[in-house]
Amino acid sequence: MSTDYITSPIVQISDMVKEFPTGDGAFRALDGVSIQVDQGEMVAIMGPSGSGKSTLMTLIGLLDTPTSGRYILDGEDVSSLSRLEQARVRNRKLGFVFQNFNLLPRLSAVQNVELPLVYGRVDSRQRRAQASAALEAVGLGAKLHNLPNTLSGGQKQRVAIARALVHNPAIILADEPTGALDTRTGAEIMALFRELNREQGRTIIVVTHDPEIGRHMDRVIGLRDGRLAENILSEYYGVEVFERVEREHGLEPVPVPVRRQGEASRI
Ligand SMILES: Nc1ncnc2c1ncn2[C@@H]1O[C@H](COP(=O)(O)OP(=O)(O)OP(=O)(O)O)[C@@H](O)[C@H]1O
Ligand SMILES: [Mg+2]
Repeated sequence: MSTDYITSPIVQISDMVKEFPTGDGAFRALDGVSIQVDQGEMVAIMGPSGSGKSTLMTLIGLLDTPTSGRYILDGEDVSSLSRLEQARVRNRKLGFVFQNFNLLPRLSAVQNVELPLVYGRVDSRQRRAQASAALEAVGLGAKLHNLPNTLSGGQKQRVAIARALVHNPAIILADEPTGALDTRTGAEIMALFRELNREQGRTIIVVTHDPEIGRHMDRVIGLRDGRLAENILSEYYGVEVFERVEREHGLEPVPVPVRRQGEASRI
């Protein structure tokens, strides 16, 4: 492996198992998953409905605890921390974006974006300045004082992204961030994630069902029945069909981002 490109792992998960209690015994939603995500990567988690994508995101996000397995986040073994200590790490290092935006309806855009800083005990003037800057960075500098119900779906998701960014987290986690948006608006939101990734070096992990999004990521982590699945894009989503159509019709192929050194050997 080449040494001129040094990446450092930010998420290292080994042998993660998650079981949920059910009426007839435990249901194993994740069955021994090991993944690594490097700093500055933009990766998708993809797979059929029920394959464990949201479960895995919840564990990466320290929103739930695994049944077993080890998790090293940004060099720190977080599996052995108490729930309170995990919450502190979560508030400091992680930013979340959800399918349904999860904005507080009575707070303006800028007040919604300030929330992670309230928990972080930043003083109010600085809070407002940081939140305004984050909204400007997502192209919403003119909508600081709008209530969520006066914003379009795409604008609401931009507010949610600004809120996920405002405390400068190490990783942004997004579970189907384009699921409630039309195709064009969804593409704009993905372009914004890519810009944040390229220009600010953000590490971004996105759950998506959209193969068009998946093929534009640095890498796809495939899941099937709670286990890692290689080639999920072609085997489940049939992406080679798109590529064949592009070739046959002489269409400009959609550029796939340059892959990093050592890429193929991971997962
Ligand atoms: N709290 C729970 N109790 C019992 N079973 C659960 C629970 N949460 C998830 N599961 C089960 O675990 C499996 C994985 O669920 P998960 O939500 O991670 O799927 P997913 O890949 O995100 O699916 P989708 O694409 O539909 O969002 C499913 O079979 C689900 O029914
Ligand atoms: Mg899900």
